[in-house]
Amino acid sequence: MNIVSQSLSSSAAPISRAHCLAMDAADTLASRRDLFALPQDVIYLDGNSLGAMPKAVPSRMTQAIEQEWAVGLIRSWNDADWYPAPQRVGGRIASLIGAKPNEVIVADSTSVNLFKLLVSALRMRAGRNVILGENGNFPTDAYVASGVAELTGAQHRAVAPADVMAALTEDVAVLTLTHVNYKSGQAYDMAAVTRRAHEVGALVIWDLAHTAGAMPCDLNGCEADFAVGCGYKYLNGGPGAPSFVFVAERHHESVRQPITGWHGHAKPFEFTQTYVPAPGIDRMLVGTAPQMGLFALEAALTAFDGVDMQALRAKSLALTELFIRLVDQELSEHGFGLATPREAGLRGSQVSLTHAEGYAIVQALIARGVIGDFRAPDILRFGFAALYLSHADVWDAIATLKDVMVSGIWRSAEFMARKAVT
Ligand SMILES: Cc1ncc(COP(=O)(O)O)c(C=O)c1O
Repeated sequence: MNIVSQSLSSSAAPISRAHCLAMDAADTLASRRDLFALPQDVIYLDGNSLGAMPKAVPSRMTQAIEQEWAVGLIRSWNDADWYPAPQRVGGRIASLIGAKPNEVIVADSTSVNLFKLLVSALRMRAGRNVILGENGNFPTDAYVASGVAELTGAQHRAVAPADVMAALTEDVAVLTLTHVNYKSGQAYDMAAVTRRAHEVGALVIWDLAHTAGAMPCDLNGCEADFAVGCGYKYLNGGPGAPSFVFVAERHHESVRQPITGWHGHAKPFEFTQTYVPAPGIDRMLVGTAPQMGLFALEAALTAFDGVDMQALRAKSLALTELFIRLVDQELSEHGFGLATPREAGLRGSQVSLTHAEGYAIVQALIARGVIGDFRAPDILRFGFAALYLSHADVWDAIATLKDVMVSGIWRSAEFMARKAVT
């Protein structure tokens, strides 16, 4: 039972701000907020899209730019340990997702890593030609799967989330799923789905974009094959931070990814004309890494040092449960639906509401300093990063949302005009 249930289930009394402050006083992760540079007048509920900036980042970037680049110049590839940064940062992420350090490397974007893994998986299952996915996945996952199907002659089959298990038939080469859905925040049972896929001989690629840094994940405990994820969401690596890719050690020698760039070569600095894949996870590399992005991500990850991921999960669930209960308590007259499961075990670290006027409501909220986002056609999305949010933040965010609805301010023309990024 998490902290909200403990403090609230015994009483039918409405939740008050004082309850929230009491929960903050008992929060063992509360001091982590000091590691982030958040504006005082902002409640940031969009860490599932772009994480907040850890204070460790600017000084690391200044050092990388003013010393390592400006003074060290090309010597820094060796002298400042630039070259092994993809492996080093991958090793840090491995500890958050239940992988061994040698199974994760940081490279490219999530979309590109999905491409590499999908082609690799198809090659490892010659004789099968189906890429199975779900029809509510994040678009890039679906688009890349379709693109790979077109390129390779495979078939991309996308089914409803509830039908995934039944669709795992003997012709499926690879199943590609996002663990926590970007819209609903609903999580798959990674262990059960992976087990079923393996029973029919298929491989599985997990997209951990909304999992890594948000909740514990046990890739090896689930005997996962492959995974990818974003560096800029709950890992807080900054806009466009590079992605990570996981390949289970047992597949290291058989995986052959299709973008055979020189950094994935066994001996890049021998400059031979023939591609020989590097041993181990290094073969997932392609070209020169985005070093500045890697350094920002590496510094950002220090915010997780010493964090017990089970404690982080308990706080994340406490925050999302509190938010859902306060929606019930404070907003029942305003036409919101709940798109996220009430059952804690099925939730990631976000809560999504539905409302026909969701876009304008989110814009009005942002104008009042409560930052969430909107996903067409009607989803108001709120992410709860347990490292920097408090229970009082949840109360204040709901109070602001209530004010936006009661005042009707969201009807203003300024909140109706669609911006490029929603
Ligand atoms: C599930 C999922 N996968 C992938 C991405 C993005 O991939 P990329 O970093 O290649 O833009 C997102 C972005 O929101 C996402 O939610």
